[in-house]
Amino acid sequence: MKVLGIESSCDETAAAVVEDGQRVLSDVVSSQVELHRPYGGVVPELASRAHVVQVVPVIREALHRAGLAWSDLDGIAVTRGPGLVGALLVGVQAAKAIAYARQLPLVGVNHLEGHLQAIFLRDSDEPEHPVPCWPHLGLLVSGGHTLLLECLAPGQFRLIGATRDDAAGEAFDKGAKMLGLGYPGGMVIDRLAQVGDAQAVPFPRPMCNRGLDMSFSGLKTALSARLQKTGQPTEQALADLCASFQGAIVEQLVRKTLLAIDRTGLRELQVGGGVAANSALRAALGTAVSARGITLHLPPRKRCTDNAAMIAGAGYHHLVQGERADLTLNATASLPL
Ligand code: KG4
Ligand code: ZN
Repeated sequence: MKVLGIESSCDETAAAVVEDGQRVLSDVVSSQVELHRPYGGVVPELASRAHVVQVVPVIREALHRAGLAWSDLDGIAVTRGPGLVGALLVGVQAAKAIAYARQLPLVGVNHLEGHLQAIFLRDSDEPEHPVPCWPHLGLLVSGGHTLLLECLAPGQFRLIGATRDDAAGEAFDKGAKMLGLGYPGGMVIDRLAQVGDAQAVPFPRPMCNRGLDMSFSGLKTALSARLQKTGQPTEQALADLCASFQGAIVEQLVRKTLLAIDRTGLRELQVGGGVAANSALRAALGTAVSARGITLHLPPRKRCTDNAAMIAGAGYHHLVQGERADLTLNATASLPL
């Protein structure tokens, strides 16, 4: 079954074709980073307008790269939330128009479920790789969410922990903004931290309890207080600050993930969302879980951040179960898993 996925929840217009929920035939992402950079963050109105301009060319390109005609498609999956509602609506409207014109089955997909489907994807020229067995533990770390989940079956999740305030990606982005590193910040902090000393600056270690909830907003406050005292750092001091700030985020994520492993007894872990691309998190989780004999599944970096292949992959499971959306399908800004 060949499914066209469409994603427009934030600042990436994306379309992809995925076969049987796994084999990626095409994966096109048009980023709006340059558009939003001067504002230091995503401007919702500009995002919606850019999606309107990009959505049709991106979908056409996805079909072209897959070498397919409209008639080769078996279904359409589109992100229906969570995200910026004006941005989501562009993808949803495009998907509904194609489904209506081509008489194709349509499903709306939760963006978060998409992130947890990324690990099951492989490029069409890539050999099969081991994928997580069900049930397994999921750590979802994106710009808007930080969740620990028991992943029970495709599309079935049990939430066992979450951030109480900022998401991990939000902490990276806000920290980067304070350090004058621009938007989006996570990748820049990751890069600068590679030559920094993570022990150089003591950041608070919040939520040192036995619960699975997390908190990241205190780190931002600590960073702001430090900058007020020391002024903006440069060169090595900046790298040290980035490494220490990143270290505090990563340490909490790893500590809570290990607690979740103990609590659930699950032996496999998958990590998804933009922050899963972070080098320090990937390395620290690798070390921590392998010491316990846990199998770690990390998607390639390009499938950690937003893409439409993950939406097509998740949509496939809904389509084969007979789920269908009609033309009343709407976008929802806040949508739990
Ligand atoms: O999953 P995603 O692309 O969009 C959302 O669903 O939110 O995640 C975006 C987030 C941003 O906060 C970005 O700064 C962060 O992922 N991110 C990173 C890295 N790459 C992206 N954070 C830390 N290190 C990275 N290498
Ligand atoms: Zn995302």
